[in-house]
Parts: sequence; C-alpha cells; structure tokens
Amino acid sequence: MTSPQRPLTVDDLLPHGPLGRLGGRVFVHETLDSTNAFLLGRAADAGDGAVAGAEYQTAGRGRLGRRWEAPRGAAILLSVLLHEAADSPVLTHGALLGAVAACEAIEAATDCSPGVRWPNDIMLNRRKLGGVLAESCTHADGRAVVIGVGLNCLQQRGHFKGELADKATSLECESHQPVDRAALAAGLLARLDDWLASSAQEPRDWAALRAAWRARCEDVGTRVTLEHDGHVFTGTALDISDTGDVIVELDQGGRRHFAAATTTRVW
Ligand code: BTN
Repeated sequence: MTSPQRPLTVDDLLPHGPLGRLGGRVFVHETLDSTNAFLLGRAADAGDGAVAGAEYQTAGRGRLGRRWEAPRGAAILLSVLLHEAADSPVLTHGALLGAVAACEAIEAATDCSPGVRWPNDIMLNRRKLGGVLAESCTHADGRAVVIGVGLNCLQQRGHFKGELADKATSLECESHQPVDRAALAAGLLARLDDWLASSAQEPRDWAALRAAWRARCEDVGTRVTLEHDGHVFTGTALDISDTGDVIVELDQGGRRHFAAATTTRVW
C-alpha cells in the first residue's frame, strides 16, 4: 500500500452537511467488525439515511457469507441504512444502486472508468475493484435495508496474492493520478443519495437505474459459469431481468434465470 492517508472524517464524507436522505447521522470509526453489521445492529435507532464508515473491518462481509478484507486505511468501507416498506424493491436493487453510484463517483474523482459484473462486482480492466452487499432486517418500526460498498483504493499490485493476484485490483494499481479517498467517499454518498431521490417518486421507478447498470455491465454477451443448487451451469449471459436475475442461454439448451441470492459465480 502507498503511505496511508489520514483517516476519513465526517466532513470528508459529507463536506456540505447532510444530503437529501443520507447523512442525518454519521458514524465514523477507526475499526468496526463490519459497517453493514454495525448499521443492521442500529437499524431501529440510527434513523433512516444513517451512514457508517470504517478504516478497517475485523469481520468485513462479502456476498454469500464470504469475507471482505482490506488493509487498514486502504479502502473505502461505507454502508448506508434505509428504512423501507416490507415489499420495497430497494433490497433487490441495492447491489445495482451501490455499484452504479460507485462507478459514477470513481469516474468523477479519478481517470478510471469502471464497469459492473453480475451480481455485485465493480470492475476495472477485467479485475475486481470493489463489491456491494445489500442486507436487510426487521426492526420495531418495520424493515431496514443496509447497502454496503467496499472499494479498493491504495493497495499496490503485490498486495493481491494467490488467486487474487490476477483477479483483484485497486485504484492505486490502475490510475495515473493520486487517489483521493475523501473525494471518492463524498462522491459515492452523493451519487447514492441522487439515485435514491430519483427513484423515490411514486410509482417508484427503477428502470433508469437498471439501464445505467446495464450500460456498464461487462457480462451481457459473454460466457458465464454459475453454480446453483449443487450444479454448475455454463452459457452466455443474455441480460439482467427487472428483478436483478441474470438470464443465461445455457450450453445444454434453454434459457434460465438465476437469482443472486442463490447463485455463486465461478470466475
Ligand atoms: C462482495 O463483493 O462480496 C461484497 C463486498 C462488500 C464489502 C463491503 S465493505 C463495507 C460493507 N461492510 C461489509 O461488511 N461489507 C460491505
């Protein structure tokens, strides 16, 4: 990692104060088990729009129970808490929302132009730069959705070992400019807030978000290998459905939808 930058502060995350929905409360910690776990634990009292950030996570969570790890101060580790109705589409669209907002923030703050990979990867030059984890819980007043984003910022190439050596990257590895974590984190929250506002009018319309995600999607038309229910499926990804499933033309014949919650992607 290049020399660590100073820890991010509340002012870094929200330089102009609270946003439209996000940032009423902001929790910035040096160390947390997981920013997602923290907000899920505070779902009832932290308030809609609460933000949690950390410099280091001791039990960072990835999709399907995996770990998400980054050296202290090297990544952006942010989560937002949304109080939502029980049938809210935010949970199924949370990964799309986080990924599109992250891509837009990266484009605004760096010379990099990232893409997305189903179901929740943020990609740069065919390597994974970051990921999004949307989780939900019920609390006394209803349902809460937490969207957490992890972005590799300052790791150097040699940091990624073993199978990650060819598969993971950071902005430091890919950008020709110094990486400003503060600008990136503030941009990420601002873009999340904008997307939440634009989909807030009734009837809630997520078509624009899905279109933005599809426009960045590196999967459509490419070969994919997926594991579902103990079976491996290969085929060509055709599209993403309106509920966020990947639609695959299978080598064995036929088309099939695969849901993110029950499908593992074989790289
Ligand atoms: C994945 O690619 O599997 C998702 C990774 C999500 C990681 C972020 S880091 C901030 C937030 N807190 C967590 O524990 N996980 C998410």
